[in-house]
Amino acid sequence: MDYQHILDTIHDEMSYRDVKGKVASYIPELAKVDRKKFGMHVYCGDKQHFCFGDSKENFSIQSISKVFTLAMAMRLMGEDLWDRVDVEPSGDPFNSLTQLEYESGIPRNPFINAGALVISDILVDQLDDPKKELLEFVRHITGDPNIDYDKTVAASEKATGYRNIALVNYIKALGNIKCDVEPIVDFYFHQCSLAMSCEDLSKAFMLFANRGRILDTNEKILKPKTVKRINALMQTCGFYDEAGEFSFQVGLPGKSGVGGGIVAIHPKNYSVAVWSPILNEKGNSELGMKALERFTTLTGVSVF
Ligand code: DON
Repeated sequence: MDYQHILDTIHDEMSYRDVKGKVASYIPELAKVDRKKFGMHVYCGDKQHFCFGDSKENFSIQSISKVFTLAMAMRLMGEDLWDRVDVEPSGDPFNSLTQLEYESGIPRNPFINAGALVISDILVDQLDDPKKELLEFVRHITGDPNIDYDKTVAASEKATGYRNIALVNYIKALGNIKCDVEPIVDFYFHQCSLAMSCEDLSKAFMLFANRGRILDTNEKILKPKTVKRINALMQTCGFYDEAGEFSFQVGLPGKSGVGGGIVAIHPKNYSVAVWSPILNEKGNSELGMKALERFTTLTGVSVF
């Protein structure tokens, strides 16, 4: 497969000028990002990699971080995790509070904010220094010791994060949060602020394409069963109330973030990350989704 040719075709065909959405602004710091940014990176199982555009530039990975924290929580809790969070698509926006009321504080899945905040509670409860351990995890699977939090983005979200703070309080009132609210949201805002590039993300997600093995070292850090579950959740819940549309258009398990990043994998084959900060109304990268639709169409390869 000539991935470089396919990526060059996508780069030639598409531009930020073709999409009409907006850069996220509810986190003030994200509103400052240049809407022209566009990059894509593919990593393959044989360690070859291909890219175009701004694929080596760091951006705020936001909800993509939920896949890393889910992997850490599954390593700590195994199947007991599913007593605290469900595995069904929500069909609701990522920051919705409504389902919690009639589902007794058990979030629909670990990728909506409610579910990710329960995962944060678990990590804050069980780890001595969860922020340090998350950084170590991400640095370990990418081999990049320079990956770090963007403290300005974390502070910006903390200053305006009323919904997430409300979610933790509400889930705590319903009995599904153990720790104090402050350390949970502090950890969550930091995980969302992780600054990574498409190159970093596509390499990191080879873990999920590679049955739990780190690409560079072949070290096995997740059980194949854990990877199966994480990939199933990315397929069904990775794009919130647009999960069906992403499956329909792209046909890969993946995860998006409001920083405009999307990562998707083809099991045993490749991992692909794309970044364009212009979001559609569901909070997913508009150009990113179009680029991935072209990618699976031009390669002729998707999980379907
Ligand atoms: O909690 C929030 O609202 C953000 N830190 C993350 C949301 C997000 O990335 C949703 N993704 N599409």
